[in-house]
Amino acid sequence: MTGAASSGPCPGSGSPDFAYCGGQLHCEQVAIADLVERFGSPLYVYSAATMRDRVQRVRRAFGEQAHICYAVKANSNLSVLRLLHEQGCGFDLVSGGELERLHAAELPTNQVVFAGVGKQSWEVEAAVSAGLLFFNVESSCELPLLSAAGAAAQRPVAVALRLNPNVEANTHAYISTGKDENKFGVAIDRAKDVVAQIVADPWLQLVGYHAHLGSQLRTVDPYVQALDRVLEFVDGASERSDGVRYYDLGGGFGISYGEGAALDVAEVADALLPRLEQRSWRPVVEPGRFLVGDAGVLVTSVLGEKSQGRSEFLLVDAAMNDLMRPALYQAEHAIVPVVQRPNAALRTVDVVGPVCETGDFLGRARSLPRCDRGDLLAVLAAGAYGASMASNYNSRRRSAEVLVDGEQVRLVRRRESFAQLFQDEIDA
Ligand code: LLP
Repeated sequence: MTGAASSGPCPGSGSPDFAYCGGQLHCEQVAIADLVERFGSPLYVYSAATMRDRVQRVRRAFGEQAHICYAVKANSNLSVLRLLHEQGCGFDLVSGGELERLHAAELPTNQVVFAGVGKQSWEVEAAVSAGLLFFNVESSCELPLLSAAGAAAQRPVAVALRLNPNVEANTHAYISTGKDENKFGVAIDRAKDVVAQIVADPWLQLVGYHAHLGSQLRTVDPYVQALDRVLEFVDGASERSDGVRYYDLGGGFGISYGEGAALDVAEVADALLPRLEQRSWRPVVEPGRFLVGDAGVLVTSVLGEKSQGRSEFLLVDAAMNDLMRPALYQAEHAIVPVVQRPNAALRTVDVVGPVCETGDFLGRARSLPRCDRGDLLAVLAAGAYGASMASNYNSRRRSAEVLVDGEQVRLVRRRESFAQLFQDEIDA
């Protein structure tokens, strides 16, 4: 970074709530360097304002009648779940553990959908007794479990059938879910029999269809193609539409990660809503990344620099165990200094963590100013699939997490202790 310490938006951030003020990166009203002073590093820092703004955008696009079911897997911190509930969100779950989180946060479960390609009996039973909006059925082997749980509770279970429309989502292969070669949903040419099975079961009610296509989608087309294919299927026989009142178009709304445009959610809504209205089907959306991705950064402290051959490395204290996305999906997260260094020369470095894997990098070939030990960097757009995918690999403690709201700061997860790392291990 060259020139005088400046104020203004943070380059590469998708949120105006991360900005420089007097050369210091702030989250809303709070200087990030002060947070590291208090809570240590690495540190996840979240902006409440960004999350609220994103919910509003989705609501404006899809209207008041839409159910916004936040995909808990993106960031499952209890305080984040509470904040999104206060904004009127329901939840999209994929495991019994995520349901336990809602119970722990004392959140209602009547606006909750439950997907997941393989469900265990205890998960189905727990979810049926919680009284969800509906289940997203992905495989016919779930149906007997759901039916038995409904019979035991003496209450029919509402199900939406997750169809796999074989649509190209144009995203990373590991996060594409709507193609034949993906394990998710029921292929349309097999769905007839699954519908028949649901309709014949006194404890199951077909209330909708679901078509989550993948994550980090940047264009509207796949959503339109999926709805086309679902409607063509539904129009094939009246039993496929009787009683149906929801269309769950999934999540997948892409953010910019500092390059290109985010998905325009209003454009998705404009393309789909008129056709849903024609059938009086209510939209359900399951955004994860779009609500929380740009709302978080991972702050890390510089440990040192080194050169090897023609490579220059910047060693930092965060690693692939804190943020898996670069290693797993070759994801590019912008990385910026937390305190600007006016006049410092820029050079190209690989930003790497201390974990013993060559795949342990946060960013490659990044242009950054020369750093000293203790200087702080922020890895941007790390609010989604950051902390929620963190692990203890190399016996590293998972990071602390802080939620900023204006001037207010709340520690929403303490840094793990070493005792927690091995407390469940049995020492023979
Ligand atoms: N609904 C269902 C059924 C899902 O499986 C997912 C994500 C979502 C909604 C939310 O998708 P989103 O709006 O966040 O794109 N770990 C990967 C992303 C995996 C997404 C898995 N399913 C990443 O870091 O890119």
